[in-house]
Amino acid sequence: MVVYVLPYFRVMSTIPFFSLQHLHRSIQRELSHAFSNVIKQGRFILDREVELFEKEFAGYHRTKYCVTVGNGHDALLISLKALGIGKGDEVIVPSHTFMATWLAVVNAGAVPVPVEVDPITYTLNPDLIRHHLSRKVKAILSVHLYGHPCEMDTINSIAKKNNLFVVEDNAQAHGAVFKNKRTGSWGDCNATSFYPTKNLGALGDGGAILTHHKTQFDFAKTFRNYGTLTKNVYASEGINSRLDELQAAILRVKLKHLDKTNEARKKNARIYFELLKDVGDVVLPPSENKFAQPVYHQFVIQTAYRDKLRNFLEKKGIETVIHYPMPIHLQPAFAHLRLKKGSLPAAEKISKQILSLPIWPGLKPGEIEFVAKTIRTFYL
Ligand SMILES: Cc1ncc(COP(=O)(O)O)c(C=O)c1O
Repeated sequence: MVVYVLPYFRVMSTIPFFSLQHLHRSIQRELSHAFSNVIKQGRFILDREVELFEKEFAGYHRTKYCVTVGNGHDALLISLKALGIGKGDEVIVPSHTFMATWLAVVNAGAVPVPVEVDPITYTLNPDLIRHHLSRKVKAILSVHLYGHPCEMDTINSIAKKNNLFVVEDNAQAHGAVFKNKRTGSWGDCNATSFYPTKNLGALGDGGAILTHHKTQFDFAKTFRNYGTLTKNVYASEGINSRLDELQAAILRVKLKHLDKTNEARKKNARIYFELLKDVGDVVLPPSENKFAQPVYHQFVIQTAYRDKLRNFLEKKGIETVIHYPMPIHLQPAFAHLRLKKGSLPAAEKISKQILSLPIWPGLKPGEIEFVAKTIRTFYL
């Protein structure tokens, strides 16, 4: 008798936190066509697809230039280097973001100076920036976290007054709009990631820099490719951080569907807003208003009962995630910054209370309703 032993048994979630299957099934033919085209062409690095995607991505944002790179971290790193930021410099960063934002600053040789985020929008609080300015601060790195746009007009005017550069981290906000202008088009250099789960995601790693400036464009274009100026001539001590042709071809297909998939996220968000209004101590994320049109990369709620609620949802088959459970300033990697517990109270409180609910475009209204109703039941 043959006995099959399963290594482990996992209860399948009724509602997974995230899935790409729905989107990929709906555009399968276009993806396959793009894929076989690249194989037929037989050129895989820095060729036609990369060039066309760069044009199309810049066009989508109405920026003059786009340089694709290997990932979002490198897009941030190269943006900072392109602006001449390095050793001895400091960069304003939000206290609550993904690790890569701070890491890019450190990897550029500079020091991150955290400024607390607004506890509702999770974006840099412009009113607090001026308290952290000094002669060493050279740039403001603003992150449109969870798909919500920062107040870029105020941030840009603070930067202008104080002679600072602005870098946007738009990894989580493809397609978001602030005051009729897309995020990713406000700063001196704007970095993004095409990690597969992003609103515009590749089938692997990828990233890009958007800029209106020729000097930064020229630097980024050579730096991503070992600093290559022309064949066998190197202008800088660059790195290898290139988006490949296959990923560019896939991204060209997905860019055409970005507005539609963002609309699906917004529709899901509207159901949450309606059904989670005045439920227990739930704090909802900001909704759309006449200035800011977020794209709900994540739908993040806050509650003092976060862990209990998360367990309750898990038992009902609803997967949730915490973005991000440990504040960056308390990460062992940044111990050298000597930012003690209690030094950034807003970020610390946020990490304890946030919970990301499923919001991906393929979720059906009934599924969102089920999540919302299960949350209501928790508070009964
Ligand atoms: C806000 C933010 N910045 C930077 C990154 C880094 O992107 P990547 O993982 O492509 O390096 C990510 C995503 O992972 C992110 O969410």
